[in-house]
Amino acid sequence: MDKFEYFTGLPEVGIVPRAPHVGPLLEHVHEQEHGRGGFAGRVSHTYHLYPPNNWLPGETLVLEDWAPHWESPLRPLGGVHHALGVARPPEPSDVYRGMARLVANATVAMNVTAPTAPMDYFFEHHSATLVVFVHEGGGTLETLFGPIAYGRGDFLVVPKGIPHRFECAAGPQYYWVYESFAGDPEKSEAPTTGQFITHSRSDYRFPRTLDTRNEAGRFEIVSKVGSVYTRRVHPTHPFDVVGWRGDYLPYRFAVEDVRPLTADRSHVPPSGHTVFTLPGCYLCVFTVRAAEKEGMWLPFFHRNLDYCETIGYHWGDFFSRGGVIREGMVTVHPVGLPHGPQPAALQVFMDGHRPTLHREVGIMADFANPAQISEYALGLSQPDYMRSWGAYTTDPRFTHRAGRLGEVRAVAEGLADARDELRPRSDTP
Ligand SMILES: [Fe+2]
Repeated sequence: MDKFEYFTGLPEVGIVPRAPHVGPLLEHVHEQEHGRGGFAGRVSHTYHLYPPNNWLPGETLVLEDWAPHWESPLRPLGGVHHALGVARPPEPSDVYRGMARLVANATVAMNVTAPTAPMDYFFEHHSATLVVFVHEGGGTLETLFGPIAYGRGDFLVVPKGIPHRFECAAGPQYYWVYESFAGDPEKSEAPTTGQFITHSRSDYRFPRTLDTRNEAGRFEIVSKVGSVYTRRVHPTHPFDVVGWRGDYLPYRFAVEDVRPLTADRSHVPPSGHTVFTLPGCYLCVFTVRAAEKEGMWLPFFHRNLDYCETIGYHWGDFFSRGGVIREGMVTVHPVGLPHGPQPAALQVFMDGHRPTLHREVGIMADFANPAQISEYALGLSQPDYMRSWGAYTTDPRFTHRAGRLGEVRAVAEGLADARDELRPRSDTP
């Protein structure tokens, strides 16, 4: 070995000075800082061919009604469960102009988009970090830090403020888009199970291939702050970056890299499947996993007393939903209102049948109270969802009968001395 090689303490790609703000290179390229926490938090630096403020004078414009469903008015939510049908935004619409808000609280919003048209502009969200889940479709997310290829089942995290553009591949596209207004997603991990359950930081894919554009023309950037959309125009391509350094970066995370916690002899609560926490929200993945061998394999009846629950159904049988839910739908279960398995699913459980596998992938985002629902979402709400538990009032197995208390007492008496068996039955002589 004729020389030693080194890592620096921070990710970096391309042409960068030896430290931020330092060295003679800065007389030749233009440094831009992307800083959170008033420049005291996470930060990255990009190094540009041209000054990033080179917008054309007189071309900046506030855009009215640019993404009308993204600003769909919010309404109070409570006491009624909703199942939202698959959204069909007006065509043609691109990723952001066709964005439709579904549910929001003060710090997080959930949206849906089904783009059919290309983005002929670049986008910067100035008030939220975006977590995109690709339910259907794929393409390339072009970012200031380089391109990220993505496909069905990928999460894309686009930090607040970072210029980007979706280059969608041919075919249907359908994304759930979570906006986090008060902080970036934090990887969730429990103190007792460590950093590799339910996924590892090594599962995150950051851009490493710079695609530096030295191009002249008219390049439009649309930014969003709250409900204000503004367009500015630059005479050079915004991805004129020759190098970057830092840890404030976009990345991809594949849903198949979630390695779920399972419990043979109990039932892992939904929170055990959390992958990201956001201020005022936690985001979970229910993925394909072994069914509980002894414990309750069906979700128990529950009421979430602090959060409104949403689940986007990505793939699978969704057995506990009793056949009501199809892929692409979203359920919204407001704070406090009990829910649980539909009657058909509970019957299977009570009959002692037990699957070996949970064949499902669902993305759950739970919103701290108070959460609201949009008028757009109310327009997708299926009228019969509350009736899907209706058999609990008609099926004789679940309705009132005079002898019910006595039956339960008798069963309980018979089970009073029952103990769990630790040794598999096959071991018993
Ligand atoms: Fe729930």
